Amino acid sequence: MMKFGVLCGGGGTNLQAIIDAVKSGVIKNAEISFVISNNADAYALERARNNGITAVCLPSKELKGDFNAKLIDKIAEFDVELIVLAGFMKMIPAELCKKYKIINIHPSLIPSFCGAGFYGLKVHEAVLEKGVKVTGATVHFVDGEYDHGPIILQKAVEVKYGDTPEILQKRVMEEAEWKLLPAAVDLIANGKVLVDENGIVKIV
Ligand code: GRF
Repeated sequence: MMKFGVLCGGGGTNLQAIIDAVKSGVIKNAEISFVISNNADAYALERARNNGITAVCLPSKELKGDFNAKLIDKIAEFDVELIVLAGFMKMIPAELCKKYKIINIHPSLIPSFCGAGFYGLKVHEAVLEKGVKVTGATVHFVDGEYDHGPIILQKAVEVKYGDTPEILQKRVMEEAEWKLLPAAVDLIANGKVLVDENGIVKIV
């Protein structure tokens, strides 16, 4: 049984998708050990508590320069193999990248519309400004750079004329994010994700 933790900072709809997938058996051989949020108001914490999962708040605005050390220490209290970033907007310390498998979900088709400054609705605003007709979501391993690291899964989503950033965000979540992230956790928990020497992921 693979144990994993989830780092959040917002509403936690991706966390909910993971919780539901563990319960329904879409994610097999894995259990959630903790949810950590860097924001006390994150509804993600409530979702964790409602599901009997250890919920920890490490308020980054108050902890400031101590945040990373506290995060590292807190995670070390749990025996996890994998850390899932689900709406966690902070840079992950290099020490954690070395110690754990870490994956992130980003609401675009990387390498488009990603990197510093591309978060939340800003991603979808940029997509609409550019006029691309296809966007999507990406799950990737985290290597210490924003939205960077071996790509595990991607799913395309249609951009429709007249979309607002909010409408597009909802479609990307419903059609891609909430499916991709649980699918990636299941693949990793069951030993199906290999990364070759060139950093290319092979699903076996
Ligand atoms: C999602 O769009 C995710 O792709 C991005 O942050 C958002 C988090 O939403 N990294 P939620 O907190 O899971 O609802």
